[in-house]
Amino acid sequence: MLLTQLYRAGLRPLLFDVFKADLETVHRQTIDTLAWLAAEPTAGRVLHQPTRLAAQAAIAHLCKVNHPRLAQSLWQISFANPLGLAAGFDKDGTAARAWPLLGFGFAELGTVTAHAQPGNPQPRLFRLPADRAALNRMGFNNQGAAALANRLTKLWPEGDYPVPIGINLGKSKITPLEKAAEDYLQSFECLKNQGSYFVVNVSSPNTPGLRSLQAKAQLAPILETLQTANSAGKPLLVKISPDLATEDIHEIVQLAQTYELAGIIATNTTIERQTLSTRIVPATGKSVTDEAGGISGAPVSDRSTEVIRLIYEQTQGSLPIIGVGGIFNADDAWAKITAGASLLQTYTGWVYEGPTMVKDILNGLLIRLDEHNLSNISEAVGRSHLQ
Ligand SMILES: Cc1cc2nc3c(=O)[nH]c(=O)nc-3n(C[C@H](O)[C@H](O)[C@H](O)COP(=O)(O)O)c2cc1C
Repeated sequence: MLLTQLYRAGLRPLLFDVFKADLETVHRQTIDTLAWLAAEPTAGRVLHQPTRLAAQAAIAHLCKVNHPRLAQSLWQISFANPLGLAAGFDKDGTAARAWPLLGFGFAELGTVTAHAQPGNPQPRLFRLPADRAALNRMGFNNQGAAALANRLTKLWPEGDYPVPIGINLGKSKITPLEKAAEDYLQSFECLKNQGSYFVVNVSSPNTPGLRSLQAKAQLAPILETLQTANSAGKPLLVKISPDLATEDIHEIVQLAQTYELAGIIATNTTIERQTLSTRIVPATGKSVTDEAGGISGAPVSDRSTEVIRLIYEQTQGSLPIIGVGGIFNADDAWAKITAGASLLQTYTGWVYEGPTMVKDILNGLLIRLDEHNLSNISEAVGRSHLQ
């Protein structure tokens, strides 16, 4: 708690306001620093080894919570705690070794696409501090599926990840929508031995037409193609938008059942601007309605919890849900778990609250388990449906 307050009062204002640094530059520097800190202690010059080992021990001490009551097994994979890093933060897996040190129970890398691509023109990432939100139109900037496969092989030649590693797959911009299934398949073939689980991302608002792939007629062939190639039975999930109508969510849930998906990730960013108090994007001076992109953070929190609740109700809890959208504290996390999420992810909240947020949330979840006389986190999943 104290460290989170120090981050809010000290480092965050420096990064956000004093340096007025471009958010994407701060992001890139953060990823590079984390990659350096978390590198193999034996990497680099001998003099660096003790520094790096000490830094790794200090980070783990400040950020990690190890408690058996937070652990679960899903899809025959062990998760030491339910809070993971959401897709988009470490698209190319550059800082993949850092996420376990920072206390995350799992990390989802990507979105990667079959073809490397630069994404949309900059600037494309903005803070909306009055709403505790971000607006982004990154457009799947990434080095491509093959580069991620190579990086993971170098980082963990034996595939012995310290936490489960999810891989989020998107469609390359140059691939026409009718050929989407082939594009997803190409990435999946490249990475299928490496991810602990895979995600079909059809919900980013920043690739033209991508969200139309959420419709049954478009999504079914993608899922069919991937599951046919999925001989090892890797858990395959679909990530959906918070802007879908209830009937569309129901249809996707049915498809998930037909194609024996392992679960659903709810949700991606929203294109909705109505709940925002921000009218003008501070960095550009333009109206928030004139800046294309998806909104993340607090404004998406309630809707994503509602989507989780709908999916849980429809499936009566039989389909695991990863809940993501506007998690800043243990109350937000508890709301999503009790609505039906078995696992959680965060992106924007972590940027606002700082690296000790994971520890604060996990400690908060342990307190809530005590308050409700529950012995472990799986017992809390979907609990609000009992009332
Ligand atoms: C800058 C940025 C980039 C993102 N990129 C991706 C992405 O590549 N793939 C994806 O599935 N979601 C992406 N997301 C969405 C997040 O994974 C998450 O679903 C969404 O931001 C809601 O969670 P949050 O409120 O904790 O940020 C991105 C979000 C942000 C803020």
